[in-house]
Amino acid sequence: MTIIVTGGAGFIGSNFIFHMLGKYPDYRIVCLDKLTYAGNLSTLEPVMENPNFRFVKMDICDREGVYGLFEEEHPDIVVNFAAESHVDRSIEDPEIFLRTNILGTQVLMDACRKYGITRYHQVSTDEVYGDLPLDRPDLMFTEETPIHTSSPYSAAKASADLMVQAYHRTFGLPATISRCSNNYGPYHFPEKLIPLMIANALNDKPLPVYGEGLNVRDWLYVEDHCKAIDLIIHKGRVGEVYNIGGHNEMRNIDIVKIICKALGKPESLITYVTDRKGHDMRYAIDPTKIHNELGWLPETKFVDGIQKTIDWYLNNRTWWETIISGEYQDYYEKMYGNR
Ligand code: NAD
Ligand code: DAU
Repeated sequence: MTIIVTGGAGFIGSNFIFHMLGKYPDYRIVCLDKLTYAGNLSTLEPVMENPNFRFVKMDICDREGVYGLFEEEHPDIVVNFAAESHVDRSIEDPEIFLRTNILGTQVLMDACRKYGITRYHQVSTDEVYGDLPLDRPDLMFTEETPIHTSSPYSAAKASADLMVQAYHRTFGLPATISRCSNNYGPYHFPEKLIPLMIANALNDKPLPVYGEGLNVRDWLYVEDHCKAIDLIIHKGRVGEVYNIGGHNEMRNIDIVKIICKALGKPESLITYVTDRKGHDMRYAIDPTKIHNELGWLPETKFVDGIQKTIDWYLNNRTWWETIISGEYQDYYEKMYGNR
């Protein structure tokens, strides 16, 4: 069994590679990653010498390169994590989001059609459903919730989902899609809420909370997401969408306060800053389908997952300090300097 994992030098893709190599010692995993600002080769260092692992630096939009790799590797399965993933960056500059998230997906699916695979899996997001009101806690996203996007990021991800469904229906591509809620855990790039707050708190820097901090996200420990994808690619029904989430809705401000407490830092570091444009209010996933069909349930409780995550950032300072000492500085100044 050979699996091409795109975007495997990023947050969730790398965790997925670790999970798969650990669980299936006879599988070959080929990671295809462009190594954008979000990709980090040092993350994959623990598996670089594994004979069942190969890393290839490549853009998923590079049709010739991708076709060449398929000719060499004859993959059985492709799992597409590669994407521009940060909402705030998509608001600053949408174009690369359209290129990578939509056109890159198309190139991968064309390669799958040309060379034949048993499964193409698209890693999508709950953001394709738009947002939910705070005063209707009874409402949740199901797989039937209409697509209704807010940001250039979510619009590009939703476009890719529609293309995957079109390739399945029109060309019979054996595809599945998963739509997961917010992940957290090791190797999360420090532009995202949880790692950014941990890094800033450890450096006694202000903790920039957008708006009033009342927006709600449905947090899932990254390993649980990886296990869900593992189940879908092996047992999920072709042509189906599976929502993934663990019923763990939390307000941003509460997350930031938990991080302050865990690190022994004062809440006076919290600074309310100008809100994100078009900021989605609440996400909440109904994971009934994946539970009933595939038996998936989240295993890590938030209280344990956040402690493991904080411990990981404390024990792996070099990983994130190297990131935030580079071009990240310019990014931070641009996004937060006058906010
Ligand atoms: P990330 O930004 O940490 O990693 C993205 C990876 O993709 C990086 O390694 C980057 O180098 C690579 N990449 C970007 N453009 C590429 C290109 N053109 N060709 C090849 N590689 C490219 O992202 P993440 O948080 O790990 O998210 C992975 C996937 O999961 C994305 O598709 C995202 O939409 C989806 N998702 C993320 C979350 C979350 O909470 N982080 C939740 C649900 C779904
Ligand atoms: O729901 C899944 C999505 O979760 C994924 O598809 C995206 O790839 C991923 O980035 C994430 O999107 P969010 O926009 O929800 O995540 P982010 O960490 O950027 O922000 C989480 C919340 O915290 C959001 O309401 C904005 C807020 N926030 C974020 C940052 C970076 C702040 O208040 N301050 C910040 O500095």
